[in-house]
Amino acid sequence: MALAKEIMGSRLIFERSSLASSSSPFQSRLSIKKRTQRTQFSINPFDPRPMRAAVSGSVVAAISEDLVKTLRISTVGRNQEKKEKEEEEKAVKFKVRAVATVRNKNKQDFKETLVKHLDAFTDKIGRNVVLELISTQVDPKTNEPKKSKAAVLKDWSKKSNSKAEKVHYTAEFTVDSAFGSPGAITVTNKHQKEFFLESITIEGFACGPVHFPCNSWVQSQKDHPSKRIFFTNQPYLPSETPSGLRTLREKELENLRGNGEGERKLSDRIYDYDVYNDIGNPDISPELARPTFGGREFPYPRRCRTGRSSTDTDLMSERRVEKPLPMYVPRDEQFEESKQDTFAACRLKAVLHNLIPSLKASILAEDFANFGEIDSLYKEGLLLKLGIQDDMFKKFPLPKIVTTLQKSSEGLLRYDTPKIVSKDKYAWLRDDEFARQAIAGINPVNIERVTAYPPVSNLDPEIYGSDLHSALTEDHIIGHLDGLSVQQAVETNRLFMVDYHDIYLPFLDRINALDGRKAYATRTIFFLTRLGTLKPIAIELSLPPQSGPNRKSKRVVTPPVDATSNWTWQLAKAHVGSNDAGVHQLVNHWLRTHACLEPFILAAHRQLSALHPIFKLLDPHMRYTLEINAVARQTLVSADGVIESCFTAGQYGLEISAAAYKNRWRFDMEGLPADLIRRGMAVPDPTQPHGLKLLVEDYPYANDGLLLWSAIQTWVRTYVERYYPNPNLIRTDTELQAWYSESINVGHADHRDAEWWPELSTVDDLVSVITTIVWLASAQHAALNFGQYPYGGYVPNRPPLMRRLIPDESDPEFAKRTYELNQNQIINRRPLNLTAAVPFRLSLFSLFSGSPGSVNSDVTRCSELIRVPSLVEGCDYKHWLVLMKSPKGYPPRNDIVRGFIKTLAMALGRVHEPLTYKIRSLPDVKWVLPDSFIVDGDSGYGGEPFIDGEVVPYDEKYHADWLRDQTDDDAKNRVFKKKPRRKRKKKLN
Ligand SMILES: [Fe+2]
Repeated sequence: MALAKEIMGSRLIFERSSLASSSSPFQSRLSIKKRTQRTQFSINPFDPRPMRAAVSGSVVAAISEDLVKTLRISTVGRNQEKKEKEEEEKAVKFKVRAVATVRNKNKQDFKETLVKHLDAFTDKIGRNVVLELISTQVDPKTNEPKKSKAAVLKDWSKKSNSKAEKVHYTAEFTVDSAFGSPGAITVTNKHQKEFFLESITIEGFACGPVHFPCNSWVQSQKDHPSKRIFFTNQPYLPSETPSGLRTLREKELENLRGNGEGERKLSDRIYDYDVYNDIGNPDISPELARPTFGGREFPYPRRCRTGRSSTDTDLMSERRVEKPLPMYVPRDEQFEESKQDTFAACRLKAVLHNLIPSLKASILAEDFANFGEIDSLYKEGLLLKLGIQDDMFKKFPLPKIVTTLQKSSEGLLRYDTPKIVSKDKYAWLRDDEFARQAIAGINPVNIERVTAYPPVSNLDPEIYGSDLHSALTEDHIIGHLDGLSVQQAVETNRLFMVDYHDIYLPFLDRINALDGRKAYATRTIFFLTRLGTLKPIAIELSLPPQSGPNRKSKRVVTPPVDATSNWTWQLAKAHVGSNDAGVHQLVNHWLRTHACLEPFILAAHRQLSALHPIFKLLDPHMRYTLEINAVARQTLVSADGVIESCFTAGQYGLEISAAAYKNRWRFDMEGLPADLIRRGMAVPDPTQPHGLKLLVEDYPYANDGLLLWSAIQTWVRTYVERYYPNPNLIRTDTELQAWYSESINVGHADHRDAEWWPELSTVDDLVSVITTIVWLASAQHAALNFGQYPYGGYVPNRPPLMRRLIPDESDPEFAKRTYELNQNQIINRRPLNLTAAVPFRLSLFSLFSGSPGSVNSDVTRCSELIRVPSLVEGCDYKHWLVLMKSPKGYPPRNDIVRGFIKTLAMALGRVHEPLTYKIRSLPDVKWVLPDSFIVDGDSGYGGEPFIDGEVVPYDEKYHADWLRDQTDDDAKNRVFKKKPRRKRKKKLN
């Protein structure tokens, strides 16, 4: 009403109010009707029943000041009176006013601006925007819906220069009192240019304002001759559709379904199905040919049909559209301007972190030399060579804001510091963080309870060989079970696992044959400690048996006992992280929350009218998915796209996704409770509000997720029960049944015969189906999407691409790598630069080239450390090594010691706080790590030689250089900028 006042002027509103409150008999009748009709047009979606009454309602009176000039009361006979009354009512004309809200575009190119001005000009001469009101009633004479006379949107030309985000236009209709309630409005755009119509509100009917939510692009009549149809915001089940709207309801759905032919124009609004036959680009190169996904060989959900012509080299493949050209999605599915910018910026961030290795390799033809270089991405940024930068910008068109930033900063590409390293730089190396991410990280949906140990593969031995049994034994884990036997641990729900064996194994031969890509099929076993936290206790790394005579096809890595096994363990965790990153992106995120929803969305637009209450419920949850999926086909999952380039699985990534769809995806298991029960993470518990008891009590994804699931379910149930008071209405709802049936039989055609599809015949069925879809599109997607940069932005935390397998000690490569390490990779041998030795080159995978040592953090408890008998004498696991930055220059030893003591003294005396936290926060301290990492054979404590398994106390024999420094004044004053001048402890190399 406020809006109406602003636009229509308060005078008119006031006059209407006066009229409505008049005491004349006729006006009293109008007042009664007005009150009645107000309820009929309630915008409360829970209030369908009054509207049903409106369907059978009769005349809706008007309240215009133009009303009733011809009203007379006849005193002749009853029939005559009736006839005259009809004629009188026919003769009653009144005006109502429409307020159309049109959203302006912020940015327009030259052509658009030109056309806009042209439209403003031609609008005055009749090429304008025309509205027509349609009643809910049918005219008994013509059997057609009653219509108003056409009305034109006024002042288009005058307002064409408005810079406001929204512009309101008015139009005035003349209707007669027999018109009934408005149920639809048609819009004809005679301009050249489309416009975005947000809503129309009609003022002037006795029922109060009538709202038409439009939120749609209205195309020019020259491109789309038929009138656009918009319905009021009042939902109707199909069987309850007012007679005046029935034909329109069907017609609009026909428009949206299209005829399945021809190439789609960007301005179309047609929703149709197709298979994924546009992933490859065989015309460019045979290497870029990709199979069709969707069909018997590679089952897949269907995508939105675009109807492009086939490629020259493969008639079954559709020609690609490359960025920056847009891929077709129905016009209203395209991003709004604001969303476009936000999405592009977010996509950039999510995508760029995966490009780090290839960018770096392109620029410097080598991998990162150390963690410091990775850190510099967040501090200084990466200066790209101009050519590389241009290439990248071509491949991944960036939003303007970033392009500007690039230009203004001469190609400096800087990343936000990912959350995983912003507070604790080495958290990602710790086992407790590794376990925490399995239940609260970006992929918390693969962990499952171990029900049988060792785990069993479900792969077909006839296809994948008989040697599918696990290499895990009781010996591998028995020492980590708090005194329980393995059987007891299983029976008391203390063993869990993340099992990627069956997902990856069928593809490993092909993946590992790719240049610079190596993967295992991993299984990680976790133990639930008495504290209620998980800790990883074994990682099984499997390869296909035929991977070579010298290569063991299975290997189990357990938590470290020394420096060498520490890095083997870290590398095994990195391979797990890589498996996890692939499954997260290709299966859980892309397949389950994007691709699998697309058929439900297509079917909803094709089969559920905008008038349908379930469409209104689903609509906000379906927004933008088609557009995002189209962009994904174009740049993410496409041949040579981001996923192929940056994930270990390379070109086989979508095949992994298709296999997961075929073998694992079940719609009835996509809801959170069902999924938790299937994975053994929860059991039914009627005493809980959500009906489940979690077996890992502190499982943040599930703790939070169940609250959200319950809230969604409650909302959906309340809504559904209002519209379907009895199940018969569900069974006989033609649109609802057509939607569900088409989603299954066409959209998920490769699973159409599956027995697990839920029925759709009761309220519970419908609540379950809708809750699952809403859950997947909202909370589940959020859980799998929004942590991508916080966790994946720091690539070492979950490297998407691994370059090398892990050599074991029997492998000749192990000795080679160890030799290389000893020659090149033990860094900073300066006194008191206390580094743990790195057992072999860390360029085993590209992202980990050279590094400082490991760290177990201050939160590691002494009792949890692995105790090794061969440690430095005096090591009692209650002390910590403190690693400090190298002192500037090359000061004498005593100065270094004094500096070290001074630093430690800053923390000592305040032991009421966790000491290691304190020490680590001190200036120049790099790490604090338990001294259990110092073992025989390693460089050990830089300050004292490590000879024959023992730290040698100060001895002239080993400290000649120090003695020299102590007596040589020149040496004291000398500044060494780069290399230490001593090569000490060669014996250890
Ligand atoms: Fe997403």
